[in-house]
Parts: sequence; C-alpha cells; structure tokens
Amino acid sequence: MRTVTSNQPRVGTGKKKVILVAGGAGFIGSHLCSRFLAEGHEVICVDNFETGSMANVAMFMNDPGFRLIEQDICIPFEVKGRIDEC
Ligand SMILES: NC(=O)c1ccc[n+]([C@@H]2O[C@H](COP(=O)([O-])OP(=O)(O)OC[C@H]3O[C@@H](n4cnc5c(N)ncnc54)[C@H](O)[C@@H]3O)[C@@H](O)[C@H]2O)c1
Repeated sequence: MRTVTSNQPRVGTGKKKVILVAGGAGFIGSHLCSRFLAEGHEVICVDNFETGSMANVAMFMNDPGFRLIEQDICIPFEVKGRIDEC
C-alpha cells in the first residue's frame, strides 16, 4: 500500500468531513474528489489504478486536504485517522 500526502498544513477553517472516495482516480471519482475538496472537506482517495489515472488526481496532490492511497478497495486495509463518510 502506497500513501501519498502533502506535508503542507491545511489552511483555513473549511474542514467539514473526512470523505473516502473509492475509485477516486477514475472519471466519476475524480469529479467527486474535486467537488468535496471545493466544499472544504478532506478527501481520502482510494484507487488501485486498474482503469483510473494519476492524471485525474494530479491537480489535487498539493492540496493538504487530499490523501491518495493506492490500494484495492476489496482488500481490507487500515486508514489512519477518522472517516466520516465513504
Ligand atoms: N469525458 C467523458 O465524458 C468521459 C471520460 C471518461 C469516462 N467517461 C464515462 O464514464 C464512465 C466510467 O467512469 P467511472 O468513473 O465509472 O469509471 P472509471 O474506470 O473512470 O473509474 C473507476 C475507478 O475505480 C478504480 N477501481 C476499480 N476497481 C477498483 C478496486 N478494486 N479498488 C480500488 N479502485 C478500483 C479504477 O482504477 C478507476 O480509477 C463510462 O460510462 C465512460 O464512458 C466519460
């Protein structure tokens, strides 16, 4: 499992929920990531890149509210911290 996070501190007070988006590097998933980040939520994107692309999430990589976990969602795994919605 590879986890990619930004070291930059989260600025602003817009944090609302921590939302896990399965398949977040895909077409629909990346749009969900974009929407949730724009609303001030934190996003944990879980994707095994079977059909998704890093290009779909590249624009989020410097966002401190975005975390990418390369992982098959069908295989149990642990996520640090809380998850409010998925
Ligand atoms: N520009 C456009 O209009 C456009 C572009 C692309 C796709 N589409 C359409 O969108 C639809 C497809 O979009 P989508 O978002 O449903 O599919 P997608 O393949 O883009 O997204 C699915 C995501 O789930 C991931 N995934 C699959 N199995 C996984 C697993 N076990 N664990 C973790 N991640 C996993 C894939 O890697 C991928 O990132 C199709 O109807 C397609 O025609 C439209």
